[in-house]
Amino acid sequence: MKPFLESLWEDYLDLTADAKRIHELFASKGEQIVNDHIALRTFDRGALSLENIKDYLSSQGYSAVDEYHFEEKKLRAYHFEDLSDSEAPKIFVSELLLSEMPTEVQEICDGLIKEADKNVNEHGIDLPMMPWRKISSYEYETLLKHSEYAAWLATFGLRANHFTVSVNHLNNFETIEQVNQFLKDESFALNKSGGEIKGDEQVALKQSSTMANLVDWPFADKKMMVRTCFYEFAERFNIPGTNTLYRGFVAASADKIFESTNVAA
Ligand code: NI
Repeated sequence: MKPFLESLWEDYLDLTADAKRIHELFASKGEQIVNDHIALRTFDRGALSLENIKDYLSSQGYSAVDEYHFEEKKLRAYHFEDLSDSEAPKIFVSELLLSEMPTEVQEICDGLIKEADKNVNEHGIDLPMMPWRKISSYEYETLLKHSEYAAWLATFGLRANHFTVSVNHLNNFETIEQVNQFLKDESFALNKSGGEIKGDEQVALKQSSTMANLVDWPFADKKMMVRTCFYEFAERFNIPGTNTLYRGFVAASADKIFESTNVAA
């Protein structure tokens, strides 16, 4: 793995106790886990906008291959691939369209973006990164009222929101249904929004995910229980009528996957 992917993985494991346990459980069955993709979140303004992340990823050998829109959640996203290495994890980066958010959300986020700009100006982009100060519990609650995505991003910064196990590469499991059963038998909570499995063979991609870990997180003024990151599972199929494995994403499924960090879920 490239050094920045290695750093994203280590940072993610520190925040996501369930992912560490699941990874160890698979390893104990002799599985060599292949990552299907990694997901990151950002704001659409300043030095860390999606277009700027695109330039950074390009310097790391990753190219944007497809664009996605999430109308209800006010997001735009690209999926990136390392075209020289088909086994390298894809990277899915989404950005929050701030101009479509209420003024109080924009004000808080613009303050954080200003700090990020200074940070990037001095040190460049280096993933994972927490490019701004710790937000307060009041700021968190204010963002949460309008966008769970904004609240999560302001709290955690630019780090992997999830890694994804490629079910196709597992030896002891034939299907994502078997993986889900295994996780439930081990008492992990799965995200049920839109059903445990998002997508089907018709769209050539089935996905499921754990609910993000609940952590007593230190905000600037006090600690509060919030959801950190989750582990996702993806089974890919041939594009119907072809012998080509689908490599893209399905917007309707990703929309539900985003809800794995919902506080109330
Ligand atoms: Ni994903």
